[in-house]
Amino acid sequence: MPKVILDCDPGIDDALALLLAAASPELEILGITTVSGNVPADMGAQNARKVLRQAGRPEIPVYIGEMAPLEIPYVDAMDTHGRDGLGESFLPEVPGPFPETSAVEFLEETLEREEASIIALGPLTNLARLFRKRPDLVRRVPRLVSMGGNFRSHGNCSPVAEYNYWCDPEAARDCFQVMAEAGKKLEMVGLDVTRKIVLTPNLLSYMERLDPETGAFVRKITGFYLDFHWEYERIIGCVINDPLAVAYFLEPSLCRGFDSFTAVETQGICRGQTVVDSMDFWKKQPNSHILTETNAGGFQRFFLSRILRKPDGTHWKPEELARPEWLA
Ligand code: BDR
Ligand code: CA
Repeated sequence: MPKVILDCDPGIDDALALLLAAASPELEILGITTVSGNVPADMGAQNARKVLRQAGRPEIPVYIGEMAPLEIPYVDAMDTHGRDGLGESFLPEVPGPFPETSAVEFLEETLEREEASIIALGPLTNLARLFRKRPDLVRRVPRLVSMGGNFRSHGNCSPVAEYNYWCDPEAARDCFQVMAEAGKKLEMVGLDVTRKIVLTPNLLSYMERLDPETGAFVRKITGFYLDFHWEYERIIGCVINDPLAVAYFLEPSLCRGFDSFTAVETQGICRGQTVVDSMDFWKKQPNSHILTETNAGGFQRFFLSRILRKPDGTHWKPEELARPEWLA
């Protein structure tokens, strides 16, 4: 069973990714760490707990991480995710103190003890802090899957940059560098593939038919996000980036990509841009696997069959769901 740590900034699409991970029996989730991104890390930790309560997995520990990027002022994304980070659903808080151990301490202690993969769904601040202190521990991470960056697709918070890497570009740069030094590859689940994953009102209604309770939860947290997409992109539906990173971790055949050396720009108008050397100008050993294609219908089937339950409590089987062309 792969051991994983989920590093995230919930965040509406992070919440959906946590639902998927929590419902995946083949994952051993050692802990969830939060980082300031969509919302401050402490609010994100409370949101993670709300999602774990919904998923019936309140035992998974949540550690609060870095409150600000490594070197620059913090800019949240509450315009996209709401004042509470969960689409202004204002779900009741889960009572109880958080562990005194910080996210970075938890990551260090865990990786000293055992190997664990990391699925990163927010800015890479926690991981960069860890690797600045303990670069040796990257060898204890079998897979580092990061939702962030973009190759051919345009940015989502500047013409060229995706939010997670734009928010803390030094952290993103450091993580790609540390992977290069260790001869490893960061698996980059960027906007080229996540933009294909759209939650439409039709899909939402379909979810409610199959599992009214989970469907109602997803509707509650995504309404704000749907409105945001209509206002800014004139699309009916919302792009849900983060669950694809979890689905790809579990089922790599859902995406395709190529190996390349990648660097991150940290300054000026290109801040946060991933510079992917797809033509091998630099003749450097690849430090990344860049995803470029995904099977959106296959993802939806995988996602829905994992998170939705029948009235008897068992999960829907993938083959019991609608035709692939309808799901895509
Ligand atoms: C990423 O930024 C956040 O707003 C989302 O949660 C996702 O991780 C997409 O650019
Ligand atoms: Ca996120």
